[in-house]
Amino acid sequence: MKMASCRLCGGQAAYSIEHAKMMLCQDCFIKYYEKKIYNTIMKHGMLRGARNVAVAVSGGKDSMALLTAMSKLVPEKFPNIKLVAIHINLGIEGYSEKCQEIVKRVCEGLGVEYVIHDLLSREGYRILDLKSTPLGRRICGACGTVKRYLMNRLAYEIGADRLATGHNLDDIVELLFEFYLKGSVEDLVRVRPVSWSDNPKLVTKIKPLIELTERENTYYAMAQGIPLLDAACPLAEGSRMLRRKKLIGLIEREIPGFKHMFYKSHVKRILPRLEKTVPEPSIMECEKCGMPSLSNTCSYCKLVSRLAAQSAENST
Ligand code: AMP
Ligand code: FES
Ligand code: ZN
Repeated sequence: MKMASCRLCGGQAAYSIEHAKMMLCQDCFIKYYEKKIYNTIMKHGMLRGARNVAVAVSGGKDSMALLTAMSKLVPEKFPNIKLVAIHINLGIEGYSEKCQEIVKRVCEGLGVEYVIHDLLSREGYRILDLKSTPLGRRICGACGTVKRYLMNRLAYEIGADRLATGHNLDDIVELLFEFYLKGSVEDLVRVRPVSWSDNPKLVTKIKPLIELTERENTYYAMAQGIPLLDAACPLAEGSRMLRRKKLIGLIEREIPGFKHMFYKSHVKRILPRLEKTVPEPSIMECEKCGMPSLSNTCSYCKLVSRLAAQSAENST
């Protein structure tokens, strides 16, 4: 049987980029992947004027692939930028220890400085404790609030001027899908490759993997020898988010390139119009923690005070 050959070097192909109908060998795939990140960074000016970039790493393949690629790209193309990895140990039994272990191993292997924030010892609770609050039925949503808040606060505390996350194309299309279904224009306008901020306590967020699929990130992680988690978050099992991703996967199979088309039409055609019509929310300071908030008390402080109230009720 004739082996397929790499479109770029003619060697033996190892990976098929289906949406681009292109086969590549492992070395050319690695170059393609890193170039794609570099192009995304340049296209959106993600690192213009940046000095300190915090990369939020969960221990999963996407953010570990991002950190690995950035640790090669930054010294070569942006030598004045310092990279620091930040990780939140969420205290999810049988899962969080493995995530932290991978983060440590990869950061030490790459020689990247890292900060680990342990939810239990630093904040006094674990993600599962949120189950007892009224928001607990939707634990992934509450966990999202915790992660968003702490990622920003940690990045701010270490003096970062950018916060890079490993959100990939599949994550973004799933979000767009949800927000379009709900008709939630205020949320849609916030789905962007870069969320610029001139508030010193709100670090500008960048998503360098936004045009790369989950599959491409997995392949890059494997090609770079990044240890892969053997299980997904047990709390997300059966979630709507996973079901929507599965459905989008089925559409992609019928219409190759669907995810790229959906994302591109959002960014190029819809977003510029939404930005003109949807007003930017006004940001105030949370009266409890002093961090940026959309109301007097930020959603993180509301969550934590509900948890404290619940614990007090349980102990009486
Ligand atoms: P998720 O919300 O789990 O899809 O994760 C989206 C992105 O948030 C990841 O790619 C990481 O960049 C970041 N992230 C998620 N969980 C953590 C964590 N425990 N610690 C630090 N960053 C995280
Ligand atoms: Fe937050 Fe699973 S990582 S609920
Ligand atoms: Zn607050």
